Amino acid sequence: MSFTIAIDGPAAAGKGTISRAVAAHFGFAHLDTGLLYRAVGARHLAGAEPVAAATQLTAADLEADDLRTPEVAQAASRVAAIGAVRAALVDFQRAFARRAGGAVLDGRDIGTVICPEAEAKLFVTASPEVRAERRYRELREKGIETDFATVLADTRERDARDMGRTDAPLRPADDAVEIDTSHLSIDEAVAAAIAAVDQAMKERTT
Ligand code: CDP
Repeated sequence: MSFTIAIDGPAAAGKGTISRAVAAHFGFAHLDTGLLYRAVGARHLAGAEPVAAATQLTAADLEADDLRTPEVAQAASRVAAIGAVRAALVDFQRAFARRAGGAVLDGRDIGTVICPEAEAKLFVTASPEVRAERRYRELREKGIETDFATVLADTRERDARDMGRTDAPLRPADDAVEIDTSHLSIDEAVAAAIAAVDQAMKERTT
């Protein structure tokens, strides 16, 4: 049996943490689709043509250890605006979504484009300031030198590009449950996500 949970939202809203916790709770597989775009962005920064990089993406590209840097995030958001890059990554994501035993995919367009038929859809948001503060702390913990104003500007720039692109812009699906994590602890956000998925599961069986 397959059951797809689509979790979308802007940068540093808490999608990654929530997705991993939801996948562990239900025993589902998890795919961080941002990693696909980050891997293409990193290969582009290294000189590859973006569409060729997306078409030839390998498992090893996803394991590169510098994929979480701000430079790679910006490069990811630039290559993600190219329709042919997105198209090259669709089949892999859809096959993952339909795997037996259930799947959680987190990204920007999972509930709208990749899996409009997903059984449960969440849209996780938080204010730009709260998201930038979280990302700033994450980067500092990783030893990446930066300051809050730069991270906030980067966050806003990426939001604008992700929401403004013609192909698969970031937006909530009409039937997505929105969770604003601005004032929630991690445990509260995870509990809200699990409750929304439980509800979707109940609706399917009644
Ligand atoms: O971790 P964070 O939320 O900062 O970013 P990410 O999820 O790793 O995504 C990096 C970039 O990839 C985003 O800014 C988007 O431009 C792009 N992306 C996308 O277009 N579609 C997805 N399904 C996932 C990511």
